[in-house]
Amino acid sequence: TDPALIRNFCIIAHIDHGKSTLADRMLQLTGIVEERQMRAQYLDRMDIERERGITIKSQAVRLPWKPTEEADAAAAPHILNMIDTPGHVDFTYEVSRSLAACEGCVLLVDAAQGIEAQTLANLYLAMEHDLTIIPVLNKIDLPAAQPEKFAAELAHLIGCEPEDVLKVSAKTGEGVGALLDEVVRQVPAPVGVADAPARAMIFDSVYDAYRGVVTYVKVVDGKLGRRERIRMMSTGATHELLEIGTNAPEMTAADGLGVGEVGYLITGVKDVRQSKVGDTVTQQNKGAEEPLAGYKDPKPMVFSGLYPLDGSDYPELREALHKLQLNDAALSFEPETSAALGFGFRVGFLGLLHLEVIRERLEREFNLDLIATAPNVIYQVRMEDGTEHTVTNPTEFPVGKIAEVEEPMVRATLLAPSEFVGAIMELCQARRGNLQGMDYLSEDRVELRYTLPLAEIVFDFFDALKSKTRGYASLDYEPTGEQVADLVKVDILLQGDKVDAFSAIVHKDKAYSYGVRMATKLRELIPRQQFEVPIQAAVGSRVIARETVRAIRKDVLAKCYGGDISRKRKLLEKQKEGKKRMKVVGRVEVPQEAFIAALSSD
Ligand code: GTP
Repeated sequence: TDPALIRNFCIIAHIDHGKSTLADRMLQLTGIVEERQMRAQYLDRMDIERERGITIKSQAVRLPWKPTEEADAAAAPHILNMIDTPGHVDFTYEVSRSLAACEGCVLLVDAAQGIEAQTLANLYLAMEHDLTIIPVLNKIDLPAAQPEKFAAELAHLIGCEPEDVLKVSAKTGEGVGALLDEVVRQVPAPVGVADAPARAMIFDSVYDAYRGVVTYVKVVDGKLGRRERIRMMSTGATHELLEIGTNAPEMTAADGLGVGEVGYLITGVKDVRQSKVGDTVTQQNKGAEEPLAGYKDPKPMVFSGLYPLDGSDYPELREALHKLQLNDAALSFEPETSAALGFGFRVGFLGLLHLEVIRERLEREFNLDLIATAPNVIYQVRMEDGTEHTVTNPTEFPVGKIAEVEEPMVRATLLAPSEFVGAIMELCQARRGNLQGMDYLSEDRVELRYTLPLAEIVFDFFDALKSKTRGYASLDYEPTGEQVADLVKVDILLQGDKVDAFSAIVHKDKAYSYGVRMATKLRELIPRQQFEVPIQAAVGSRVIARETVRAIRKDVLAKCYGGDISRKRKLLEKQKEGKKRMKVVGRVEVPQEAFIAALSSD
């Protein structure tokens, strides 16, 4: 295809502002999906995506579009490649790669809701990539829509005239044709060097049970052809191109892809880590020398221990994690054991949603009952003797003379009606946030920018924010490097023995409240034993809180006077049953439920 007739664009929108519905309408309007095959959210293939209504993996689809008569563009048929970006904060890097494959984007905003934090965060990313931005208000069919008000807000934000804001209804299809015309008119055609060695950027990579890894690319320079041998520039690995083609919307094989074209590659690899998002694909022979800019290895930011409730499920858990990893280059894990929880894995995630999605998939698709330890971030610990440690698990926090500890920081964008500014500031303050700036998007909507420690966000920040703002605030964040902080490890001890699952790295000012909270909780949850059990919270060897579970003499048979032997046996059986799920910490027996309850409440 002549690059002059190609338009590569994406849709950025806040969750629920109608991106999938708009994509559906575009598929229908361009005629590539027949009416009777149409199903809601055609492009969201994963079940869990459809159920939760979130888009996790991006996809690309090729739409033929002949601008309508009244559009001033030459009425030649064009190829519009719609690249679906994952919307959520955890996947910022993937969003950024998808944006890098586009020349323009549709900024879609719900005409009844207005701009939200996610819209803003993605808009800033799009601006960094120099994309042409087409502002669009959706859901104009809703009685509650306020297109005039929000057109002004959008115009103010991106610096255009309110009249330039398009108005559509993804539900009824109104305005969608005009939007496609605008994409042709406004979005620049891709440019690249046709006779240079091939360079294609990988913007997505998904595992398909039948075909192996399907890699989505945008060809920047040159041409990739069927049966050619290709090389991944970050690793040097070479493969044969078994198939190359486009999604229209099902996979359709082609002879090759040229400058500006977007499509998929199949090489037979079985693991997405061999075909990484952001990497550059070139020919094996006489390939390009320089990869395209911007490649980053996916880096887990948040860690949590995952343990099977039933210890015998451990092999299944390992198997399941391996399977998920085939499709998720950012998922990492290694075995870990815990005195309190048994055998499990330390699992690394991009962020909280990623954690939640993986957990849910393990439970749902693999039928596993899991218990997860509180999520923590990665700390860099420098000792006075000059050695350095990377800590992904609080139990590995080094002992000895610590010079300083660094923790990861994020730049957060918060958006809310102005009446909540005070509440949001209070919350961010309590979470060690630093206000960077504040803007009124309109009279009654404010954008706040904070830097915050990631550790303060992974906990329950989002819930706290929602409850303080009656659900009106939205939040987005991206990593901005590390910062030194006054952090300590708090251990929880039962009768002098550490309960590993409860060790936590917290700010010095919060060590006491964490210690008291956990000690109190455990006192309530741990049944009395034959002896007294002190519960202590300690920083190093210094005890900062203490509770006690008093002793009792437990004699289950005491109640069965005399002879009823079968009743006695039943009671003994029952007690044995209970013992199985007991975990032993030192001399103390604790029902696993107590640990679970202590980990999961609040
Ligand atoms: P995520 O995939 O979660 O990011 O959401 P999305 O942005 O793709 O939103 P989706 O298309 O799932 O739409 C969210 C809800 O808004 C759905 O219930 C849609 O039916 C509804 N919706 C989308 N567009 C319109 C519209 O133009 N008018 C009306 N009335 N409802 C719409």
